[in-house]
Amino acid sequence: PETITVQELANRMSERAVDVTRLLMKQGVMKKITDLVDADTAQLIAEELGHTVRRVAESDVEEGLFDAPESEDALKPRPPVVTIMGHVDHGKTSLLDAIRHTNVVRGEAGGITQHIGAYQVTSPLGGKITFIDTPGHAAFTAMRARGAKSTDIVVLVVAADDGVKPQTAEAVNHARAAGVPIIVAINKIDKPEANIQRVRTDLLQYELQVESLGGETLEVEVSAKEGTNLDKLLEVIQLQAEILELKANPDRPAEGSVIEAKLDRGRGPVATVLVQRGTLRQGDIVVAGSEWGRVRVLVNDQGETVPEAGPSTPVEILGFNGAPEAGDRLAVVENEARAREIAEYRTRQKREQAAARATVRVSGLEEMMS
Ligand code: GTP
Ligand code: MG
Repeated sequence: PETITVQELANRMSERAVDVTRLLMKQGVMKKITDLVDADTAQLIAEELGHTVRRVAESDVEEGLFDAPESEDALKPRPPVVTIMGHVDHGKTSLLDAIRHTNVVRGEAGGITQHIGAYQVTSPLGGKITFIDTPGHAAFTAMRARGAKSTDIVVLVVAADDGVKPQTAEAVNHARAAGVPIIVAINKIDKPEANIQRVRTDLLQYELQVESLGGETLEVEVSAKEGTNLDKLLEVIQLQAEILELKANPDRPAEGSVIEAKLDRGRGPVATVLVQRGTLRQGDIVVAGSEWGRVRVLVNDQGETVPEAGPSTPVEILGFNGAPEAGDRLAVVENEARAREIAEYRTRQKREQAAARATVRVSGLEEMMS
């Protein structure tokens, strides 16, 4: 049900909270300023104080922001988005670094060492692949919780010297819940104590049957340390992606997900975003969570300024008024007024939810003490 705290109601009218409680009392309603009143009561009070009331439902504000229907002929092939998951220390970051390094060494100019949340490489078969380096499973879960399917393929890293561990199983469950195919990367095969066969048989417990055991799950034996079979891994990813026939419409306003965001001292709020549909352009007005802005600069994974970014492309956005949160969905809107309306609406929502939680906590405490 739509509710608002007395304090928030007063704030929005720029009235004093005591005046609101007084009026409420006149109506025979006893409320503290942290108490909630329903929408009808709030409207009555507001009108009593001479304000015009415009009731905005979430459906109005958020209407048409995401997932507008798309005609089949507008869809064009797009690169797969791949997330690397696995148990602690099994070599996820090393593998990502090794893949990127090989790719950089293979042809692109300049070696980039700085940490980035996402990047794109070219497989030996010629297709592009986007990798997301999520800090643990948290971001993955957050994105999923917010309704954005951000990953097409999960690469499950299992260290051959350590075998299947709790977080390996967790990653399998995450991928399953999201309906994302898994490619198994058996890592650290350079180690003398590596036991590849044990990894394969252990995975059977989680109903993951790799090809070499007669199953359908693709697998690659790799060593991030020695750079073994990295090209093969990229090929397998591309083959898996081709089966999925991934497509998106590049010719529409962009939609995407925030991978990470921070407040940079020199550059202000910087958000790394994965564009999922449409094309994001310099000058676009964007909203993500309760933040909005005009795209001032777009920076690709090579650190270069680019005029636009299409589907499955990771890109940094400069121009947000504040840093959004990892997992927030991003949308391009038609003008600043709309962006502001959405951002303000969401800010209020957040504040009210926090207030409601605080009220529950306080009354819970009172009960405990009485
Ligand atoms: P978290 O992010 O902490 O979960 O770890 P991670 O999965 O990202 O593992 P990371 O890449 O940090 O590697 C953990 C350790 O394993 C490091 O000391 C790596 O040098 C080592 N390592 C990673 N890959 C290999 C490999 O292929 N062979 C060997 N011998 N060591 C590896
Ligand atoms: Mg790591």
